Amino acid sequence: MANLKVNFAGVEFKNPLVLASAAPSWDGEGMRIAGLAGIGGVVPKTIGPIQDWAAHPRNGRFQIIRHGGKPIGMVNLELFTTKTREAWIKEDLAVAKEGGAVIQASILAMPNPDDTAVLVDEIQATGMVDVLELNVSCPMPAQGVGMHIGKSPELTFKQAKAAKSAAKIPLTVKLTPTVFDMVEVAMAVKEAGAEGVTISNSIRSFAGVDIETGKPLLRAYGGYSGPAIKPIVMRHLSEVARKVDLPISAIGGVMSFKEIVEYIMLGATTVQTATAIMWNGYGIIGKWLKDLEEWMDLKGYQSLDEIRGIALPYITTTEELAKLPPMFANIDEDKCTNCGICQKVCMYRAISSNGNVCRVSKSDCDGCGACVQWCPSGSAALA
Ligand SMILES: Cc1cc2nc3c(=O)[nH]c(=O)nc-3n(C[C@H](O)[C@H](O)[C@H](O)COP(=O)(O)O)c2cc1C
Repeated sequence: MANLKVNFAGVEFKNPLVLASAAPSWDGEGMRIAGLAGIGGVVPKTIGPIQDWAAHPRNGRFQIIRHGGKPIGMVNLELFTTKTREAWIKEDLAVAKEGGAVIQASILAMPNPDDTAVLVDEIQATGMVDVLELNVSCPMPAQGVGMHIGKSPELTFKQAKAAKSAAKIPLTVKLTPTVFDMVEVAMAVKEAGAEGVTISNSIRSFAGVDIETGKPLLRAYGGYSGPAIKPIVMRHLSEVARKVDLPISAIGGVMSFKEIVEYIMLGATTVQTATAIMWNGYGIIGKWLKDLEEWMDLKGYQSLDEIRGIALPYITTTEELAKLPPMFANIDEDKCTNCGICQKVCMYRAISSNGNVCRVSKSDCDGCGACVQWCPSGSAALA
């Protein structure tokens, strides 16, 4: 029987699934519920000072982004915790602890790193916290905190160093995906002595315009989360995993056990989730863990250590790929239903139909593989 245990920076999680810092962890009770549902770890809403601009309730804070009626992502303007530091310290962390999950406390990197160190000290002094997660990555603030720190390796270094000076338990730093090169920021985190990185926060974004009224759907820039951001997270995750020797907690668009596996295959140790819980409730935690266990048993894996990073050695550059022999599409005439989709999506006009089946002209085929992606009968293949 597969063992789901993982070790992140010296801390044992009973499984790799972690409730990310977001609305489902806005108080101790949300995290207690997730813990009782079997989750490995929980991250509270980012703890920091109460600020006027982060006050709740606010006037509209989510926009679900749909494509063809299906939700593909979500923009939120939620910002940090609405609870006081005192409430977290006196009450909510203890309630969260009753759920039995590892507590990875999210701490806001304050404009002055000395204040960050004080906050770290106060939160860990509760004795309720197992790991600290320094937030240098919130995409909403106009200036001073969040991604304005996290986009700079130098500022991130100062904050991580300050947090480390006070930390007696492992520290991970939650990075922003709104950078070109996350590797240099992750290297600064390592140099500062932190024990892990969390990849990553939501992406600074704009929700859209109501074309009937001409007005924005949300009137400020927010954080984009959910399935649409997964390829962006996977880019950063794999780049950091290949170059920086630190355990990684990956987040973004997990919607089933499969994404947990994918992220671990790209080097993650734990995998966090927020939007999926907001869309489906805490009940999916148990289902995903069961699915993960069953998948591992089916594949004969005893431990997640066996699959960590296994996809990384295959990642190369487009320049290297260009040196490989060209490939061409081929259509299996026995399977082809002559639906015409491949002709429509072939921008090289390499596919034609004889009235019964589709055929590829090898001299026109670019080898792009679009027909393979769209073919509903599985008759197109590249070779
Ligand atoms: C409503 C909402 C609130 C969030 N609040 C925080 C927060 O307080 N601190 C933080 O570090 N990340 C916060 N996040 C970001 C999530 O932790 C996570 O990084 C992001 O949503 C991507 O994961 P997902 O696609 O599973 O939601 C928030 C996300 C959402 C959707």
